[in-house]
Amino acid sequence: EGVFDERRRRAGERAAQELIEDGMDVGLGTGSTTAWTVAEIGRLLREGDLEDVRGVATSLQSHELAKEADIPLVTLDAVTELDITVDGADQYSENEPTVIKGGGGAHAREKVIDAMADELVITTDEEKATDPLDYPVPVEVMPDAREVVAEWVREAGGEPDLRMAERKDGPVFTANGNLVLDCDFGGLDDAAGTAQELDGIPGVLDHGIFLDMVDAVYLGTDEDVDVLEF
Ligand code: A5P
Repeated sequence: EGVFDERRRRAGERAAQELIEDGMDVGLGTGSTTAWTVAEIGRLLREGDLEDVRGVATSLQSHELAKEADIPLVTLDAVTELDITVDGADQYSENEPTVIKGGGGAHAREKVIDAMADELVITTDEEKATDPLDYPVPVEVMPDAREVVAEWVREAGGEPDLRMAERKDGPVFTANGNLVLDCDFGGLDDAAGTAQELDGIPGVLDHGIFLDMVDAVYLGTDEDVDVLEF
C-alpha cells in the first residue's frame, strides 16, 4: 500500500510513457498512483524523450511532486483547456466510464482539471474495480452548512460521516477551506441519479462521483498493465 505499491507504479509510469506527447498541457492527478506518473514525466523531460510539456496540478501534493520532478507548471487560471489529465481514483467500474474520487479530499479541483482535458485517463490498480460502485461518496461542504447538508444527504438516501483528521484533533479541512462528508449510499445502482441529487444540494462545492468522464483506465496488475477504454 502507498507510494511504493508496484501495481500502481506500473500503471502510473505506463500512462506517462504511452500517453504524454511533446507540447502537451497535462493535468496532474493526486494520490499515490499519479505520483509515479508525475515522476516519470519528469524523467522523460530530463532525458530529452519529451519536450514542451506543461503541467497543471490538481492539489498541493501534485504541485510539490511536479516541482521536484522539474515539470514546468502553469496555474489553473492560466488555461481553459488541457490535452490530457492523468488522475487516480478510489473506485472504478469495468462497465461504465464513471469513477469515485475524493478519498484524499482533492476532488473539487480534480473535477475541474479532469473536465478541462480532451482526454481523462485514470491510473489505478486492479483491486479498485467494483460494480456497482459503493465507495462512500466524498462531498465537500461549506463548514457551517454541514448539519443541514448532512440532513439533505440523508433525505437523498445517503449516510453522511464528517471526515476527521488522523493526526490532528477535529475535522479535515480541504484546500478550499471546506469540510468533507463521506456519504455512504450503499451500491450506486443509479450513479447518475445520485450525482444529480448531490449536484442540487446548496452548500456543496462538489462531490466525488465523476460521471461519464473517463476515457480510459490504466490498471496495474501483478505482472503488467491492463487498459480499459470507454
Ligand atoms: C484524491 O482526492 C483522490 O481522488 C485520489 O485521486 C485517489 O484517492 C487516488 O489515490 P491513490 O492513487 O493513492 O489510490
